[in-house]
Amino acid sequence: MDLGISGRTAIVCASSKGLGRACAEALAEAGCKLVLNGRDPATLAATAKALRDRFGVSVAETAGDLNDPATRAALLAAAPEADILVNNNGGPPFKTFAAITREDILAGVESNMLTPIALVQALLPGMAARRFGRVINITSGSVRAPIAGLDVSSGARAGLTAFLASAARGYVRDNVTINAILPGAFATDRQQSAIERAAKQRGVPIETARAEAEARSPAHRFGDPAEFGALCAFLASARAGFITGQNILIDGGAFPGAF
Ligand SMILES: NC(=O)c1ccc[n+]([C@@H]2O[C@H](COP(=O)([O-])OP(=O)(O)OC[C@H]3O[C@@H](n4cnc5c(N)ncnc54)[C@H](OP(=O)(O)O)[C@@H]3O)[C@@H](O)[C@H]2O)c1
Repeated sequence: MDLGISGRTAIVCASSKGLGRACAEALAEAGCKLVLNGRDPATLAATAKALRDRFGVSVAETAGDLNDPATRAALLAAAPEADILVNNNGGPPFKTFAAITREDILAGVESNMLTPIALVQALLPGMAARRFGRVINITSGSVRAPIAGLDVSSGARAGLTAFLASAARGYVRDNVTINAILPGAFATDRQQSAIERAAKQRGVPIETARAEAEARSPAHRFGDPAEFGALCAFLASARAGFITGQNILIDGGAFPGAF
């Protein structure tokens, strides 16, 4: 299928590794020009080079913390007429409910709600004027099935989802869509850290903790980030202009509901 976005420009936040990088790869494969981001400049440069070498597309690098307004301004300056925005960011750390502080909540809301909203607000008017725009927010399966210990993440991401729901309906007539992808467990560095933490807490080998976590999934495996990237590229495509305001789970069947 030709996704119809060759030559389009995409800003992909937090994309030097993991799910963000997988989205960038799938968009590069579809022929998009990219602006990539991550805090560590060396990791970012290595990812940008790998994508340039593999796909032959233009890849700009904007190193910095997304929660810093200066980084967001630099991203927008690198692609003021971006056609596609993939919102992603680090997730709040695991913390028991009793230990969560007001500062933890403010930090989570800043990174997983206010930061993506700021980028959406900056880009939507131009997308609407040019009559093409695709916003994809990477949130989490925890928006639908909250996970104990990730309460800040679940709450801030649910806030983002609700905040953008009316804009998703308001802009679709201009061929601008806003959707969220809700990952279950994917094989990324963040997932590896969670496994290592669980192994340490329980005093079992890392491989045991990994095998048990994989066995808890109906798919008996973690998701491959490339599977996530492919869904992102489809939602970003010219083909997906009638899909907006949706929250699409990609979790190997982990969410147990029929709907
Ligand atoms: N993997 C999963 O199974 C899973 C499941 C549900 C939800 N999620 C959520 O999906 C998102 C991506 O997860 P992932 O597994 O892909 O994580 P990851 O493998 O740790 O990659 C995170 C990426 O984001 C960048 N990043 C982190 N904080 C940043 C910041 N403040 N500013 C700019 N860049 C930043 C990192 O680069 P630097 O460190 O160099 O900045 C890296 O490129 C997270 O919000 C996570 O909570 C993941």
